Amino acid sequence: MTAQIINGFELAKEKRAQLAKEVEQLKREGIVPSLAVILVGDHPASQSYVKAKQKACEEIGVRSVLLTFPSDISESFLLEQIARLNEDGSVHGILVQLPLPPQINELHVIEAIAPEKDVDGFHPLNIGRMMTGQQTFLPCTPYGILYMVQSLQVDIAGKHVVVVGRSNIVGKPVGQLFLREHATVTYCHSRTNDLEAITRQADILIVAVGKPKLITSSYVKKGAIVIDVGVNRLEDGKLCGDVDFDDVKQIASYITPVPKGVGPMTITMLLHNTVQAAREQHK
Ligand code: GUN
Repeated sequence: MTAQIINGFELAKEKRAQLAKEVEQLKREGIVPSLAVILVGDHPASQSYVKAKQKACEEIGVRSVLLTFPSDISESFLLEQIARLNEDGSVHGILVQLPLPPQINELHVIEAIAPEKDVDGFHPLNIGRMMTGQQTFLPCTPYGILYMVQSLQVDIAGKHVVVVGRSNIVGKPVGQLFLREHATVTYCHSRTNDLEAITRQADILIVAVGKPKLITSSYVKKGAIVIDVGVNRLEDGKLCGDVDFDDVKQIASYITPVPKGVGPMTITMLLHNTVQAAREQHK
């Protein structure tokens, strides 16, 4: 068996075309969807993610405002900036790129963002809403993963979803989203005993740990759907995922590539949330 590749790039393109139409409609109603992005410091990966987010906004007609600050700003200064954006009626979404420098407590920052502008879906109120099945902003990477799996027209209910990784941004919420879709969900992490025995039970295997090529074919059940969230840079400069793509594609039914897999969907769901925020705030 050779797996079919889930083309996140193409899926993202289709969804963004649809969002561009929604933006046009909002603009006809006098609403210009707008996202404020805060970047603190000069973390190279964060800089490139922020650039990609801004470019994606521009492409679908969303206004984006970038605020960059040096890495030595205080937490209280950053909180003041967020408070100002919370009050600014022309800004619908606020995103603070993570990670932040050590003197700034990320949780304080996330909690300072008005929940109705939290397009990352990281605010504890929005996480609670997600977990209790209420309407809210869904965190972008988990939402993008769910969108990709749903695009395959497979029935998620009753499937065994194994999530490797327990970060607040991806691992924990993606398991919750699949639970909402009636999957049976198992979480694995760095302290899990016999990881391979558990991942081999997965109908849908989602890996988000940041360890290049951790998952080889011996970790995968024949015919499983494999979603690779990892973005790792190898010594030769090439990008690779947490999954050994060439090995696992021999055994999986569907697999996401790195790059052009989950990454473009994450940004697309950020656009989706920003458009939703603009619509909600003008109701
Ligand atoms: N850093 C890595 N991923 C993300 C994300 O989805 N949102 C934000 N704000 N920061 C990140």
